[in-house]
Amino acid sequence: LLYSQGRCDLSGKHILISTGGTREYLDPVRFIGNPSTGKMGIALAQAAYHRGATVSLVHGLVAENLLQTLPPLRTHLTLSAAEMHQVLLAEAPQADWVIMAAAVADVRPTETAPEKLPKQLLPPQLSLETVPDILAELGNVKPAHQKLIGFAAQTGDIVSPALHKLAQKRLDAIVANPIDQPDSGFGSDRNQAIFIDSTGKQQAILPCSKLAMAHQVLSLIQQLPH
Ligand code: CTP
Ligand code: CA
Repeated sequence: LLYSQGRCDLSGKHILISTGGTREYLDPVRFIGNPSTGKMGIALAQAAYHRGATVSLVHGLVAENLLQTLPPLRTHLTLSAAEMHQVLLAEAPQADWVIMAAAVADVRPTETAPEKLPKQLLPPQLSLETVPDILAELGNVKPAHQKLIGFAAQTGDIVSPALHKLAQKRLDAIVANPIDQPDSGFGSDRNQAIFIDSTGKQQAILPCSKLAMAHQVLSLIQQLPH
């Protein structure tokens, strides 16, 4: 059964969810970001809360009206990947499940100017550094009882890169979702995915609302082998 059928089937579970995009500032008015709106993770938080879980939501900047739809749960606003990293590492040890739906930056400017740079002073080439992989780090310090779930937003072949990330980051499952299909992706109210567990077993989540997909993801996590 994929749905909770109105039962509080997640009561007693502590679920940590990250969502939204991070911003890596060059100066106070310019940043490297991505189109993530946080809708998928907010749907997961809502679904988990209504199924009885204790939910903690760590999010980048998301639309205020989206946050207002949330039930009363713990939220932390984190702007940059470094802030999100810090909060997630502190929160993760208490979590039974960690679901990483955030779109975390891969690179950031090596320096952030404290004041706005006049455009004449902007370098023709940005100097960038790699952002540490939060999920891989969570995989390295994962307690035995914890389930760690990643997302992989892909174009083209969604399965092979997701399988690689699943193994490399020591995940219990990964939700591979296409961002180049009409019924899914950044900002859409709908989504679809292939849920892959650590044995490589694949389950399709057909196009549906992000809330319906959230319920399916939670049920699939609950059915993962212990
Ligand atoms: N992720 C993370 N920290 C990063 C980058 C990614 O925790 N610095 C997490 C994302 O939140 C997601 C998973 O890793 O749950 C996969 O992210 P994705 O961008 O698909 O994969 P990457 O490993 O960053 O590889 P690439 O961008 O090259 O596809
Ligand atoms: Ca990435």
